Amino acid sequence: MIGKVLAWLPERVVALRMRIFALVNGQDVVTIPGPQVGAADFRRVYADPAANGRSRGAALSDLFWYWLSPGPQVHQEHLEAGPRYDEVAKCTRHILVKSKKESEELTRRVARHVLAGVRPGLVRLRDEMMPIWAELYYELVFDEPCPPRARELIVAHADDVASALKCVRPRNMRRRARLTKYLRQRLADVPHPLPQSLTPEEQAYYLQGTFFTTAVVQMSEAMAHLLMIIAQDESLQQRLAEHPEDADNVIDSVIDDGLRAYPLFGIAHRISTADIELDHLTIPAGTVLCFSYPGFAEQSAKEDFIPFGVAQNRACPARGLAPPTMRVVTQEVLRRFSLASTAAHTRSIPNRGPALLTPRGARPRRAPLVWLGVRDRWEDVWRSFAQLVFGTYMVLDARRLALCSTYFAGGNR
Ligand code: HEM
Repeated sequence: MIGKVLAWLPERVVALRMRIFALVNGQDVVTIPGPQVGAADFRRVYADPAANGRSRGAALSDLFWYWLSPGPQVHQEHLEAGPRYDEVAKCTRHILVKSKKESEELTRRVARHVLAGVRPGLVRLRDEMMPIWAELYYELVFDEPCPPRARELIVAHADDVASALKCVRPRNMRRRARLTKYLRQRLADVPHPLPQSLTPEEQAYYLQGTFFTTAVVQMSEAMAHLLMIIAQDESLQQRLAEHPEDADNVIDSVIDDGLRAYPLFGIAHRISTADIELDHLTIPAGTVLCFSYPGFAEQSAKEDFIPFGVAQNRACPARGLAPPTMRVVTQEVLRRFSLASTAAHTRSIPNRGPALLTPRGARPRRAPLVWLGVRDRWEDVWRSFAQLVFGTYMVLDARRLALCSTYFAGGNR
């Protein structure tokens, strides 16, 4: 009986949360793929030049701005198309540009440094990965090794954003403000030309949002998924150990499969700025288009996946950098440890990827794995309730603050 409740409850709570989020919108929304527009038209609509409104005009944007605060109005993801967006996107490309060799070397050095401090035993993979990406993205921005104080601030901030996004905790704005203050004081040390159309305060927000929210959160989540897949597939680990000459290719294909099976984006939304004509339907201007990545992955062919978005419509600027750096970190983890996990592995991964790390070559112990499985199922129950309470609170709070609507109502662009 208890087993049944343990399995049933979290699912119901997730379904209820999805309903609450859908209700927030309360306006013309087309979810793709969905009953009106199928998977076959997913790319076509996403790539349409009229699918280019970003935040303005969607009630859903108030919620995203709430989660990505402070400074969501200058977060690259949420800027409307125009000269300011172009300047910001150019700066991001400038900071991310590195040769493949350079970025792999940097990642290896940083991963070795961070992993030297990781002890074997039960861990949460996301927590172990976050300091690596904090140090790496700090170094890309400041072009110097990351001091411990900065790493602490970045990890505290990114962990807060990821936890709030998954509704396991309410957001903690004081923690986020500490990183803003630090970045504001360090702007003069950034060796890249920062967007001149932004005030110094906004430049700090921009760096925080793009590199220390999006980059650190996305990479830590992607790695938690990848390592969970590896931890739950003993034969894969054996293959990697026995055929080191082929390990790079194998890891690359697991990265692809992982990004497809566990897309990091749930929904990316746009607001149509003109009518979009399809064979069977006209989507009117002003419609909120919700592109569902999990829905598309389920309904489309295996090769037809777009983990980094579509090139014609604001695709991810880190699409070239992310996979090779993930491969390097995976190699470094597997050089030190074998991994095992009996915990649940879901797309939103609210458990942060619980796993057992055993020093490479040693025999994994059974008892901790049994304990891990039981603990994870119990945690799932209370966490589901917490997510429901915090999720509802944040949805209402975001609606009350109406950050995006107020910003545009004030005549800002
Ligand atoms: C495996 C890791 C990552 C995945 C799967 C991923 C995925 C995506 C996707 C699907 C989009 C497009 C969303 C949309 O259409 O609205 C996107 C946008 C974006 N990503 Fe990533 N991302 C990853 C890592 C990163 C990193 C490391 C950065 C570092 C700067 C980054 C920065 C951004 C930004 C700034 C945007 C907005 C682009 C724009 O609107 O111009 N992402 N990402």
